[in-house]
Amino acid sequence: RERDRKPVGPKELVGPELSFVTDSMVRLLESGHPMLNAVSQYYFAGGGKHVGPMLVMLIAQAASIGTRRTGETSILVGSDIDRIDFSLMDRALSQNIDSDRESQAVNQLVASATRDSNGGRPYEPSVRWGLTILPTQRRLAEITELIHTASLLHDDVIDHAETRRGLPAIQRRFGNKMAIFAGDFLLARASMALARLRDPEVIEIMSSVLSDLVDGEFKQLQNLEDASMAQPDERAFEYYLDKTYLKTASLLAKSCRSSALLGNSTDDIAEAAHLFGRNIGIAYQLIDDLLDFTVSSAALGKPVGADLELGLATAPVLYAWQEHPELGPLVARRFSADGDVQTAWRLVHASSGIDRTRALAHQYAQRACEALAVFPQSHATAALEGLAASLLRRSR
Ligand code: FPP
Ligand code: MG
Ligand code: MG
Repeated sequence: RERDRKPVGPKELVGPELSFVTDSMVRLLESGHPMLNAVSQYYFAGGGKHVGPMLVMLIAQAASIGTRRTGETSILVGSDIDRIDFSLMDRALSQNIDSDRESQAVNQLVASATRDSNGGRPYEPSVRWGLTILPTQRRLAEITELIHTASLLHDDVIDHAETRRGLPAIQRRFGNKMAIFAGDFLLARASMALARLRDPEVIEIMSSVLSDLVDGEFKQLQNLEDASMAQPDERAFEYYLDKTYLKTASLLAKSCRSSALLGNSTDDIAEAAHLFGRNIGIAYQLIDDLLDFTVSSAALGKPVGADLELGLATAPVLYAWQEHPELGPLVARRFSADGDVQTAWRLVHASSGIDRTRALAHQYAQRACEALAVFPQSHATAALEGLAASLLRRSR
């Protein structure tokens, strides 16, 4: 039974679910306009890492055991769905569900115990190794990815991006207007799907992500007007990390919290889910800011050195600035003079900025994993730890 001790990876736990995310999003995006369909689905052809959906579904599974507000739970889409006896799941787990075959047996049990009272259609949460993902949580995963993709459609217009996910950037293919419409359309359909979850708390939390994204972009735009960016001190890092939370980590933190809430988790589990998403999100963006200095555009699928070109001083620059004060004037004029970008690039590489950024990312990933202590240990918590480790190792 050696096999049983090997931790299950994120792909094994949610891979099958993940493979439906894109198809399902495409169905949410159907419209009467062939052109709108083509533009709004364009970035899905490039793949994407699906970090958000993966987190939502792993948190769903991690929160599915022994963490609910009551023994028996009535969650789910609307009021017309029967109750699932979750003690069944707990029993299944205590008997050590560890094979696909057993897992399917539990799946069938749950499916037969729960029927959509309207259509009489079987209502099937996904169950693997005794860990459950509800249809509402699956839908949340899609909403998360739709919001993320919508923000990228707008971001690439704002940043004049050349490529994304190995494809020509949206506006290079279809023009600015189409790119903006497509982003708006994704948000509209995501909002409808969100409303259909019929959970006012989740609707409010996920809506607040949209204003966080704008808030983060504003902070990034105005960083030089804010006195905290005058020198590379603690305040500058605070400003940078706050911006990073808003533009990247808020979506993940709030998606994780919402996933736990949809599973009717207790408050401490929802809070831990939020903390995990927040810290993993900051770690993720720190690695993103580092990769902008260390890999080729071909490997990344989008331009490198882009942040300097956009006038942005990210963590590697802030650290380098501490060691090379001559970076100060370059930061202040947003690397706009001839040769600034090249000089800053050289100084970052001559400093310990990249290593220190990586170390900071490790710290945040560590904090994320510490937040998992509140969850009962399961294949899902192990997979979340595995995901944290793999995000640190990523090179695209
Ligand atoms: C990518 O960052 C962009 C974001 C994480 C968020 C963009 C947010 C907006 C455009 C505002 C609000 C939009 C909506 C639809 C609510 P980046 O440019 O640093 O990364 P990149 O290198 O991947 O382009
Ligand atoms: Mg941007
Ligand atoms: Mg960008």
